[in-house]
Amino acid sequence: MSEIFYPNRDFSKQANVKNMCEYKETCAEVDDDYEGYWDEMAKEKIDWYKPYDKVLDESNAPFYKWFTNGKLNVTHQCIGRHLKSRKNKAAIIWEGEDGSRRIITYLLLFYRVNRFANLLKNKFGVKKGDRVVIYMPMIPEAAFAMLACAKIGAIHSVVFGGFSAEALSDRIKDAKAKVVITADGAFRRGNPYLLKPIVDEALEKGCDSVENVLVVQRNFEEIDMVEGRDHIYNDLIKLESEFCEAEEMDSEDPLFLLYTSGSTGTPKGVQHSGAGYILWAQYTMENVFDVKENDTFWCTADVGWITGHTYIVYGPLAMGATTIMYEGVPLYPNAGRWWKMIEELRINQFYTAPTAIRLLHKVGADEPAKYDLSSLKVLGTVGEPINPDAWLWYYNTIGGGKCPIVDTWWQTETGGHIVSPLPGATPIKPGSATFPLPGIKAEIIDKEGNPTPKGEKGLLCITKPWPSMIRTIWGNPDRFVKSYFGDCKKDGKPVYFSGDAAIYDDDGYIFITGRTDDVINVSGHRLGTAEIEGVIGHEEHVAEVAVVGKPDDIKGEGVFAYIVTKKEIDEESLLKNINKLITKDIGPIARTDGILLVPGLPKTRSGKIMRRILRSIAKGEEITQDISTIEDSSIVGIIEKLFKSKK
Ligand code: WT7
Repeated sequence: MSEIFYPNRDFSKQANVKNMCEYKETCAEVDDDYEGYWDEMAKEKIDWYKPYDKVLDESNAPFYKWFTNGKLNVTHQCIGRHLKSRKNKAAIIWEGEDGSRRIITYLLLFYRVNRFANLLKNKFGVKKGDRVVIYMPMIPEAAFAMLACAKIGAIHSVVFGGFSAEALSDRIKDAKAKVVITADGAFRRGNPYLLKPIVDEALEKGCDSVENVLVVQRNFEEIDMVEGRDHIYNDLIKLESEFCEAEEMDSEDPLFLLYTSGSTGTPKGVQHSGAGYILWAQYTMENVFDVKENDTFWCTADVGWITGHTYIVYGPLAMGATTIMYEGVPLYPNAGRWWKMIEELRINQFYTAPTAIRLLHKVGADEPAKYDLSSLKVLGTVGEPINPDAWLWYYNTIGGGKCPIVDTWWQTETGGHIVSPLPGATPIKPGSATFPLPGIKAEIIDKEGNPTPKGEKGLLCITKPWPSMIRTIWGNPDRFVKSYFGDCKKDGKPVYFSGDAAIYDDDGYIFITGRTDDVINVSGHRLGTAEIEGVIGHEEHVAEVAVVGKPDDIKGEGVFAYIVTKKEIDEESLLKNINKLITKDIGPIARTDGILLVPGLPKTRSGKIMRRILRSIAKGEEITQDISTIEDSSIVGIIEKLFKSKK
């Protein structure tokens, strides 16, 4: 199969896991005593207020509980406990798009978070268990806000700043948030943009639970303030004390919600708890990125996604590292921006998405050579399968052929990495996430739990509970059980199914092939086709619509819609109308790249759209599926012809 790249020897010598023997030994230890392994990890890594009395409680499966009755506060793990030895170490180095920088040491972070926590508690009456929505640009206050919630036991729900008012309002309502934290605006591609007006619009859509809005001034633009409801952070924060008692939290108390798309229905509020999540965030920082005391770690995600939660905020801070936060886009002012930052900030571990690598390769292949990238030790990728071309460019040009690439497979629901190489140990293959991490039982199986033969597609499942797993879907436990534990069983017991298909190659390496459900992956972001179809269906000319992913050189997948119209309209105008609606109801990330007007959609006799066939057509694949169950099978040929003539 594909070429193998062995770990760099000098790197391996100093790595936390040095070779495959060590990896296999740990795996054997885990097989021998699963709970014992996690017990050891939790004791070693977490600074508990009070010890737990049980490692794993399976009595109410799949609502697993970890480290029962243990007490901790995640901010003590991330800040407080570092004050002894790292008080003036940089915790967060922030860079604005305009090049300005802010360095926040652990001690300053402690004060900021305490003031923020006091503000939420004293001024807005936020208590343990209350939900706080954070709708922010990439500024340090976004991290302060998350940690302030954690300090007082409030549950944060960060909503990505690219989502529309409609999407924001749905998430506020579902969580019944008491407070919304936002900014006046921020900068993107050199231009200021506003966020606060989007919050105002969202709150007009009946978010009755919201009592207060806190606005961080970032670009000092003119914004409307609602008397009594809206408050300026910059004024109020000065009045609060720099000390705040941390709430003593139970291991299983929720830490945050993060909404993500499913194959059907509205977005789901994935609920994570404190102890298990922070343990795994820290563990993976230490072992997958091999971050050492003096290293500087940069994850380019937005805090609005799980990658930003775990690998900009919680993971790096839990281990006492220095984390980078960048406000802007990779192409500003040119395609060398990120490489310049790596040179200037002496970045040691760099973590990004295949879509960004492809983009920077395409538009700025000459840029990396202009910078000194020799500080890099480990490169990471996440979000979608990485194609060998992009992988090789990343490896050779960015990593100078000396940095291992950790292709990390995981999900919003898993909290942290699940399948990934260990940089000092695992021989890597381009395009493979390689093997499950020690302690994780991830397997490719069929629905009954039989292992899939090598070279054949199967379902990627996690067959034992793990500490950082999703606990439930906020307000909808039935949907939690059905979405994740309804498809696959092993030894007769329901196990977690990820929604992804995967293949073992001849050497047992795991290659992820993509989603098996109606979820598409655009630039590493998950979008539900049902949600997009719902929006397109509201366009007045549209009678019927089916959305699928269409391969895209940069984004991995683009949104593509097959549409049956009820009134005449040309394709171009319809595409424009649709994208206006999508931008308003979901956000620009879900915009449709292309549409095809068709006379009908392939459906089963019971009326279900056969998306699999439409997906194959969009991918330009031969139709090999059985089409005999289609009500009118001639439609497949017609759509295929239309699709080809369009190209
Ligand atoms: C889906 C999860 C986890 C943070 C980013 C996305 C896909 C993720 C990989 C990878 C192939 C990957 C999967 C997964 N995915 N990482 N290394 N190789 N595919 O989080 O929005 O929860 O999406 O992203 O399809 O199910 P998410």
